Amino acid sequence: MVTLEQFLVDRQQEFEGATGAFSKILRDLSLGAKLISFYLRRASLSGLLGEIGLTNIQGEAVQKLDHLANTLFIRLFSQNPHVAGLASEEEEHILPTDPHGKYVILLDPLDGSSNIDVGVPVGTIFSIYRRITPVGSPCEEKDFLQGGRAQVAAGYILYGTSTLLFYTTGQGVHGFTLEPAAGEFLLTYPAVRMPEKSQYYSFNDNQLHEWEPGLQRYIQHLRTQNQTAEKPQSLRYVGSLVADVHRNLLKGGLFFYPGTVKKPEGKLRLLYEGYPMAWLVEEAGGKASNGKMPLLDVPATKIHQRTPLFLGPAADMETLHSFLNPHVVVEKT
Ligand code: AHG
Ligand code: MN
Ligand code: MN
Repeated sequence: MVTLEQFLVDRQQEFEGATGAFSKILRDLSLGAKLISFYLRRASLSGLLGEIGLTNIQGEAVQKLDHLANTLFIRLFSQNPHVAGLASEEEEHILPTDPHGKYVILLDPLDGSSNIDVGVPVGTIFSIYRRITPVGSPCEEKDFLQGGRAQVAAGYILYGTSTLLFYTTGQGVHGFTLEPAAGEFLLTYPAVRMPEKSQYYSFNDNQLHEWEPGLQRYIQHLRTQNQTAEKPQSLRYVGSLVADVHRNLLKGGLFFYPGTVKKPEGKLRLLYEGYPMAWLVEEAGGKASNGKMPLLDVPATKIHQRTPLFLGPAADMETLHSFLNPHVVVEKT
């Protein structure tokens, strides 16, 4: 039995600087996870379901638990001397915290909010960068806009049948399960690899008619090959990115949330949904793109910018890209 704390101490050198900063940031993330898990599992008993009656910068109704999770993480990281600032899905602007901190964190405090009231798994997504502005001064927006490949750590917490914490620092993906009896996250998924064959595909086809023709042809291709397949794939779509990606990471599956004619940039946010999930999937052997280029290479220009997101096993992503960009020769991996 290896606790998250012990695991981090044993592998401290993997996180640049090995100053213990990452362990303290993950400790705050795991404390937030334990508290959110506690509140979530009692939400319908303690009046925490439903909306707070405000709309956030995304133009979405803020759920009480979105607000609770957001407030909790702001409080936790505001007292962490290693954190110079936060950007959150629930906050219009960046929140500078300790000017002497060396790291900045981007958060989707509660992902899949539409599922909270119906008992379906939700999650938290995080992405960590080393700041590029001088330590000692307040962090600035450019600290958060360094692009996906500059992430030093990323991961998610899944509040499902158990509470799981998965993260990467570029040395593979490691997963932990909360043991409520001990109040500790224990290592349960060391060195996660995404299976090369997709058992699932996940998308919300309510706007199928608005998707680019190549994607519609790819979906037809999937469905045709499943008609004769010995073990046909299943369509699984929960509507919480963390739950859909976690299942596909463990079992092999293709997830996409494409752009449409009306919204070519799609719905999902690049900095605190796309980049962290793309890095985790790549670290587990899969691929992630915006349909045109690797997602981690999509330039970051705004904190809340949106992106189409496609992710899955490398071979399936190669086939998908051959339908999306027929003129481009997809490099054979
Ligand atoms: P959030 O609750 O943080 O706004 O994220 C919801 C996202 C993501 O979790 C999920 O994949 C997607 O919205 C589902 O969107 P649709 O309901 O349009 O399918
Ligand atoms: Mn989200
Ligand atoms: Mn959210």
